[in-house]
Amino acid sequence: MERIITGDLTEEDIYEDNIRPQSLNEYVGQNEVKENIRIFIEAAKMRDEPLDHVLLYGPPGLGKTTLAHIIANELGTNLKTSSGPAIEKSGDLAAVLSNLEPGDVLFIDEIHRMPKFIEEILYPAMEDFELDIVVGSEGSSRSIKIDLPPFTLVGATTRAGDLSSPLRDRFGIISKLNYYSEDELVGIIKRTSKVLDMPITDDAARELAMRSRKTPRVANRLFKRVRDFALVIGDGTIDLDITKEALERLKVDKYGLDQIDIEYLTSLIEKFGGGPVGVETIASSIGEEVTTLEDVVEPYLLQEGFIKRTPRGRMATQKAYDHLDIGDNRLF
Ligand SMILES: Nc1ncnc2c1ncn2[C@@H]1O[C@H](COP(=O)(O)OP(=O)(O)OP(=O)(O)O)[C@@H](O)[C@H]1O
Ligand SMILES: [Mg+2]
Repeated sequence: MERIITGDLTEEDIYEDNIRPQSLNEYVGQNEVKENIRIFIEAAKMRDEPLDHVLLYGPPGLGKTTLAHIIANELGTNLKTSSGPAIEKSGDLAAVLSNLEPGDVLFIDEIHRMPKFIEEILYPAMEDFELDIVVGSEGSSRSIKIDLPPFTLVGATTRAGDLSSPLRDRFGIISKLNYYSEDELVGIIKRTSKVLDMPITDDAARELAMRSRKTPRVANRLFKRVRDFALVIGDGTIDLDITKEALERLKVDKYGLDQIDIEYLTSLIEKFGGGPVGVETIASSIGEEVTTLEDVVEPYLLQEGFIKRTPRGRMATQKAYDHLDIGDNRLF
C-alpha cells in the first residue's frame, strides 16, 4: 500500500502548487525562522544587494521548498531550481550557475546529495560570484574564471549532518524548520479548505491536525483523502464523523502512526526485546530502507517519544509499549 502519511514527496504532491502559500504572510508557523528571514530580505532590499545564502534543513514535508519559493517571491526575483542528485558532473553545476541572472535565487534541493568534488565549484561561486572552470583537454588544460551575477543560493536538506562543513560555513543564514504545533496545523488545514473550496468543521480540522505527524504535507494529503469520503458518503462538508471514519479506513491512528511505524515499533519490541538494536537490523527485519527509517519514520517517533536513540542503538520507550498495548517493558 502506498504510504499515505509519509512526509516524503509523492507524485500527487507535485500538483500541489495551488495550495502552496506564496508569501511569508500566508506561511503558517515557523515564526522565528520567518521573522528572521523577513528582516534579512528587507535589509538586502534596502542595501540593494542579494540576500545572503540560506540553508534550510529539517524533516520532509515541513515547508523547505515552499519557503524557497517564498523567498524569491518576497525578493521579487526569479527562482531557478536544481537538486543534488541532478548535478552529476561539474559541467551540470557550471551550466546552472552560468544561467543565473542578477539577483536570482538558485534553489538546490537535497543539497547533501551533491557529489563532494562538485561542491568545491560552489565555494568561489558563493563567496565571490566567480566560476572557476577547467577548459581544454588533459595536458593542455587551463583554468579560467568567469564572473557570475550576484545571486542567492537557497539549499535545502533533510540531513544537515551530511553536509561538509566548508559548504555549511558558506551559508550566512542557516534555519532549521521544526515540526508544527496542532494549532498551526489547524491553520494550514483551514487555509487548504478555503483554497480547495471544501468546508471543514473545527473539530474535524483539529482531528486531522492531531493525526498529521506535525507535518503540513501530511495534513494536506489527509485533507484531500478525507475530502473524497465527505463527497461520496457525506454531505459535502468534512465533519468529525467522516474524518474519523476515513482515517480509520486509511489506518492512520490517533498519534498519526501508520502501518510502517507500528511494524517498526512491534519489531523493536517483540523481536529485539525493546532494544537497544541498530537501525540496520530493524530495517532488514521489516523490509524497509535504512534511509526511509532514518529520514522519515524515526524523526517523528523520536520527537513523539516512542523511541530513544542510544549509543548502542534504538530503544522503545514506555509510551511505545503503552501505545501498542504490550504491557510493561520491565517484563521483557
Ligand atoms: N508553513 C506552511 N504553511 C502552509 N502550508 C505549508 C507550510 N509548509 C508547508 N506547507 C505545505 O506542505 C507542503 C509540503 O511542503 P514542502 O514541499 O515545502 O516541504 P519540504 O520541506 O520541501 O519537503 P521535502 O523535504 O520532501 O522536499 C506544501 O505543498 C505546502 O502546501
Ligand atoms: Mg522540498
